[in-house]
Amino acid sequence: MSPEIQPPSSFDDTSLDQAFGRVTAQAREEAAALTDPGSVEAFRLRWLGRKQGLLNDVSAWLKAAPPAAKKSFGERFKTLKDLVEGLLDQAAGSGHSDSALAAESIDITLPGSRRLTGAEHPITRTWNEIVSVFAALGYSVGVGPEVETDFYNFESMNFPPGHPARDTQDTLVIANQERRPLRDRLLLRTHTSPVQMRTMESQPPPIRIVIPGKVHRNEADDATHSSTFHQVEGLCVDTNITFSDLKGTLDHAMKALFGPSVKTRFFPSFFPFTEPSADVQISCIFCGGKGCRKCKHSGWIELLGCGMVDPAVFAFAAEKQPAYDSKRISGFAFGMGIERIAMMKYGVSDIGQFYSGDMRFLGQFA
Ligand code: PHE
Repeated sequence: MSPEIQPPSSFDDTSLDQAFGRVTAQAREEAAALTDPGSVEAFRLRWLGRKQGLLNDVSAWLKAAPPAAKKSFGERFKTLKDLVEGLLDQAAGSGHSDSALAAESIDITLPGSRRLTGAEHPITRTWNEIVSVFAALGYSVGVGPEVETDFYNFESMNFPPGHPARDTQDTLVIANQERRPLRDRLLLRTHTSPVQMRTMESQPPPIRIVIPGKVHRNEADDATHSSTFHQVEGLCVDTNITFSDLKGTLDHAMKALFGPSVKTRFFPSFFPFTEPSADVQISCIFCGGKGCRKCKHSGWIELLGCGMVDPAVFAFAAEKQPAYDSKRISGFAFGMGIERIAMMKYGVSDIGQFYSGDMRFLGQFA
């Protein structure tokens, strides 16, 4: 029995008052010190606990009471019990006391947890930049499938079956297609040129489109090559389109992408789908053309391929759209690697960084 619960010395009213008075004072004192929900619960168990509660001890005094005192004892006991319950109710509301509020409060001056701001991936950004340069010249955007037929990727682009030019753009082919004619067999496209043919088949000239997209080649990955990469190709077809138009368009585009002081020069090259074909070099953006390590001390950097659309390509388009008659129309096409341009613009020396998903790299573009 707790020391504070001293039974009455006898059961007359005075003794009962004294004994109950001590217990009441004790309960009030303890209740006044209650602050948090934990201590309130402890108080409840200590006083009203079903087996060990102090009020049980008090009610046990009754056993020793003579029958005549039972009534007045019962009244006092009820008063005490009501009081303890009242104190408990009050204290349970003490969630609102200053100390309880302080314990629960949130420091709104603490900085919140910051969410990372999203940003365009450098490839997406460069993709959009290139597209908008041509959009400003009146080009629209063409898209097409990444899994392409042999016909659109190769044959219609004037890579005949078995022609060695196909070796320059080896790729993955979809398995188990031996029963299909070669032209219908599926492969991962090696360039976005097939969309040139799809577009010509679906609409007569004039055409001005740019075709951004993902392409695949059998390529050993190294610091500057990736077997999956991105391209923007362009096609312009109309009457009287000349090589001068091609030069003027690409010279403008390179200045728009790399700054107005950039120069361009054109070298003879070969692509099956253009004739004549050219490689385009721009003056080195790192040294301004003086010669440095990046341009292998030549002052020039090779950046894209282009040429006048080969009549053989128009002949394939004319099967569906007779207006592609190379006697009456002409056109030029060009193609550039988005990674290569992004690497130059942002000074990235390892192409693998673009695909790494490394936030330390990507965060620089936020
Ligand atoms: N399709 C060519 C390639 O991927 C690029 C190109 C397009 C070259 C148009 C000339 C004209 O290599």
